[in-house]
Amino acid sequence: MDARLPYRMRSIVFIGFMGVGKTTIGELVAKKLLRDFVDIDKEIEKDFHLSIPEIFQTFGEPAFRDKERELIFSVCKRPLQVISLGGGAFLQSAVRQFCLAHCIVFYLDMTWDSWKERINVIVDNRPVLQGRTMEDIEKVFHERKAIYSLHNSKFDIGDWDAEGMAEYIVDTIKLSWDLYD
Ligand code: S3P
Repeated sequence: MDARLPYRMRSIVFIGFMGVGKTTIGELVAKKLLRDFVDIDKEIEKDFHLSIPEIFQTFGEPAFRDKERELIFSVCKRPLQVISLGGGAFLQSAVRQFCLAHCIVFYLDMTWDSWKERINVIVDNRPVLQGRTMEDIEKVFHERKAIYSLHNSKFDIGDWDAEGMAEYIVDTIKLSWDLYD
């Protein structure tokens, strides 16, 4: 028997590179769908009582990834939420498989040229970007695209503002409920 939730009740998960707007758009989508919003990075910080840079510094990235996976497993099987994952969560194949089996996964994509304009506001609290050259970061950006290629729907941020993007995503979700239920 398929123990998964009916399609319409499944939580919606946003994935994509650091700083593309997963949290901003996720919060707007949650509001429009009258669902709770969960930011996995915030949950990790609450659990450790530390900021993400402090967690990386004190316990190291592997401890961060273990907690990230554990929280995703517990949060993502609950129904009717909108969830934003940290940009590295999909590096773990168990996370990819779990989210694709139990949720509806939306990939927010952006071109490198648009993303690199944001680097200055992003880098300070993103330990995985620190100490890297622009060339290194560009390489990671393109490598990560391969892991995000597993998703249910992809949206190119392009010139959209967050409100317009959220509106468009909500329309798409409602259409998919009609199609797949
Ligand atoms: C990370 C992305 C961050 C956060 C952590 C690691 C990554 O989340 O989880 O700093 O490896 O891509 P955002 O994508 O919300 O910045």
